[in-house]
Formats: sequence, C-alpha cells, structure tokens
Amino acid sequence: MNASLIPTRQGSYLPISARMLKRGERVLEPDVYVTPYQGQPVVVKDYRRYRGTPMALPARLLVWREARILRRLRGWRHAPVLLGSAGLLLGMEFVAGSALSGEAEMLTESLFRQLRGVVARLHADGILHNDLHTSNFMLAGGTLVLLDYASALRLPRWMLRLPLLREFRRADLANALRIQKRLTGRHFGGARAELLAPPTWVSATRERWKRFYRWAKA
Ligand SMILES: Nc1ncnc2c1ncn2[C@@H]1O[C@H](COP(=O)(O)OP(=O)(O)OP(=O)(O)O)[C@@H](O)[C@H]1O
Ligand SMILES: [Mg+2]
Repeated sequence: MNASLIPTRQGSYLPISARMLKRGERVLEPDVYVTPYQGQPVVVKDYRRYRGTPMALPARLLVWREARILRRLRGWRHAPVLLGSAGLLLGMEFVAGSALSGEAEMLTESLFRQLRGVVARLHADGILHNDLHTSNFMLAGGTLVLLDYASALRLPRWMLRLPLLREFRRADLANALRIQKRLTGRHFGGARAELLAPPTWVSATRERWKRFYRWAKA
C-alpha cells in the first residue's frame, strides 16, 4: 500500500477524505477509517500516531502480524481482502455490511452455523483469533465476515494440542457461544455449557492475578 497516494490534511497524518470508523484511544489501538484509494473504498488501520515513539516498534509488529494472517486467509469469503501493508499502515477491503446485533431477521440458524464454521476453519488452519466479540464481525449480504486479526496467532496445528493453546482454542469457541447467547438470550446446557466454563487451573491463575493486581494497586 502506497501511503503517498492518499492525500492528507495539512499538519495531520489522517487523509482528507477519511471517514473514521474507530478512533484509537487505548494503547496500541489504531485509528480505523475508510478512505478512497485507487478508486475503491479502503479500510486503513493507521498506527502513525506512534511514529517516532518507542511504541512504533510494537505497532509495526501488530501490522505485520495482522497482514500475515490476512495474506494467509486470502480467498476466504469470511475475512476481508488484504490490500497492502507498509510500516504503520494496513489497508484492506471495505466490508459493506452491518455490525452484528440482536435484530430478529439477522439471527438465523445459518448465521450461527457460519459463526461456528468460521472458528472451526481458523482452528483447522492453526489460527487462534483470540478476540472474538460482536464488534469484530460484520454481516454482508448474508455472509459473516470476521475482522481484526491483530491478536491472532498462527501456529503449527500440532501445537494447538498443548494445554495452554488448547485453552486459547477453548476460549475462542466459548466466545463464539457467548456471542450467540448474548444475541439470542439462549442458555446452553451439556457440552456447550462445559465449554463456557474455564478449567480450574485457568480460574485459579486468573484469581491469583486479580489478587496480585489489587495488591500492586493498593
Ligand atoms: N474491513 C472492514 N470493513 C468495514 N468495517 C471495518 C473493517 N475493518 C474494521 N472495520 C470497523 O472498524 C472497527 C474497528 O476495527 P478493528 O476491530 O479491526 O480495530 P480495533 O478493534 O481498534 O483494533 P485492534 O484490536 O487491532 O486494536 C470494527 O469494529 C468495524 O466496525
Ligand atoms: Mg476490534
């Protein structure tokens, strides 16, 4: 992606025509906007506010990692097409759709089948998304599109059987179920309810971490 083809405002790194989708406010959050680029709307994840700071390096790493996963997923209709990445910028196809919501006509069995299928396909390819929640999904013409691979990990599939990574995989599946539960209000029993409950070592580690955090803050 050639950033010099996107005209910017005087004194700002943001393009003149940028329509902001999400302003980066927390640490290492990009500005996400849509802007015309070579005749088509393009979504840019822009970390340039970190230029010249010590955070530029981790920001570049996030761009590189997300681009790597999107490149791997090229041709898969459930992920946006990567258009390019350069330094602190990542450009991808604009998905013209709507965010997932509780609207009745959206909540079809096909939607949830796609949701489970998307997670299963990623895992089959050794990819853990690690950030599955409603705002990272869009529905475009009946197709569910998963966004935001900044936290994703791609590993050899055999590694996903290691206990820690098995837990990451469970967490992805549990988050997919939580989305379904949140949108439909439906509760799950049996194997699905078990999936939602973290193993005891995870709850214990989380509890210890919380206690340490409270102690450190006091
Ligand atoms: N390709 C896209 N097409 C349409 N809208 C998008 C696209 N990518 C992102 N968005 C919108 O912008 C929002 C923010 O994007 P994204 O989730 O990738 O960033 P983020 O959560 O700030 O990033 P990160 O987790 O990398 O800090 C999404 O929730 C979605 O509404
Ligand atoms: Mg996101």
